Amino acid sequence: MNEPILQRMRSWWPARRRARSERIERPRPAAATPGARVVCVTSGKGGTGKSLVSTNLAIAVARRLERVALVDADLGLANDHLLLGVHPEGHLLHLLEADRDVADLLTPTPYGFRLLSGGSGVHELAALAPRELFRLIRKLERLRKASDFVIVDTSAGIGPQTLLFLYASREIVLVVTPDLSSMTDGYAIIKTLLHRSTDFRIRVLVNRVRSHDQARRVFDKIRHVCDRFLATEGAAPSIEWIGFLREDALVSSAAMLRRPVFDVHPDAPVSRGMAVIAERLLDSDTPSLELPFAIRRVLADATPDTSPSERRRPGRQRHRGSQAPRSSAIERNFDRGSCTTTSSPSA
Ligand SMILES: Nc1ncnc2c1ncn2[C@@H]1O[C@H](COP(=O)(O)OP(=O)(O)OP(=O)(O)O)[C@@H](O)[C@H]1O
Ligand SMILES: [Mg+2]
Repeated sequence: MNEPILQRMRSWWPARRRARSERIERPRPAAATPGARVVCVTSGKGGTGKSLVSTNLAIAVARRLERVALVDADLGLANDHLLLGVHPEGHLLHLLEADRDVADLLTPTPYGFRLLSGGSGVHELAALAPRELFRLIRKLERLRKASDFVIVDTSAGIGPQTLLFLYASREIVLVVTPDLSSMTDGYAIIKTLLHRSTDFRIRVLVNRVRSHDQARRVFDKIRHVCDRFLATEGAAPSIEWIGFLREDALVSSAAMLRRPVFDVHPDAPVSRGMAVIAERLLDSDTPSLELPFAIRRVLADATPDTSPSERRRPGRQRHRGSQAPRSSAIERNFDRGSCTTTSSPSA
């Protein structure tokens, strides 16, 4: 039972379908994938501001698009409903009941989008079996098809449930802070995702900074380490900058009111930063993954790295040199110089 959850998924997946699943395919163009864009907001370390970003981003996006949904995928520890001041009647676990559809479980918010809560204090959600996780993803596909934009607020780290949501998605907003462990854990997420597929579009959001320059230095360090340790032959990993948010005391004062800062203090620097990030997100386009592709990608994670299909993939990640870099070497690269001063801009 200590076997990782994604490994166990393979044990019940029929062998023929599994063989097909291992054939990694590229997603078809946007026209062939009707339905929402799905953006996962994630981080390596906890407490970097994912829920702040997800809830406020949902408001900003809902001002431009009609059908916007926020999925609180921090299973069992969800708190987006608290930040939004709403009281969900149902949560993700209820999706596992045969007669419950995702549309029944969406909670309207006063901000023009709907919330699917992850449930809080519900321990079953944190310990779902692989079969149940797949049922969740399948039912969530109906939400994607019925929406224009879906934001998924994940839990931190590279636990199997978080990876399931990330692998089933394509666009990732990675939230980091200038804290060293946030940067190194953020790098671990990038490495894990790019190791699986080069199709991910990973954009870095630097939160809790004093200035644009400080944020750019954080981003440059992450990009430098990625270029150094994750570059494939001939291609640097594509890590994009999406923006930054300032440290702002108004964030917690809005949280006390159970209202998002973007709504209470629209002119606060943190809200203006959020508006810029939402614009950048909406002005770019990334076709979503179709469900079968997403499931294949999830299943491929349970496949040993030596599977022939993986070996054939042109975008497969290979570290330069014969050995993977030691984590101390990576930390030294992050640690060189401080990100906490505002002098000498590097971007
Ligand atoms: N830019 C900011 N300025 C001030 N406080 C912030 C800022 N960003 C986040 N915080 C505070 O940091 C704390 C963590 O934020 P949040 O809950 O959004 O993080 P999280 O990544 O979702 O955490 P978890 O990993 O536990 O889900 C909260 O108290 C929040 O108010
Ligand atoms: Mg959170």
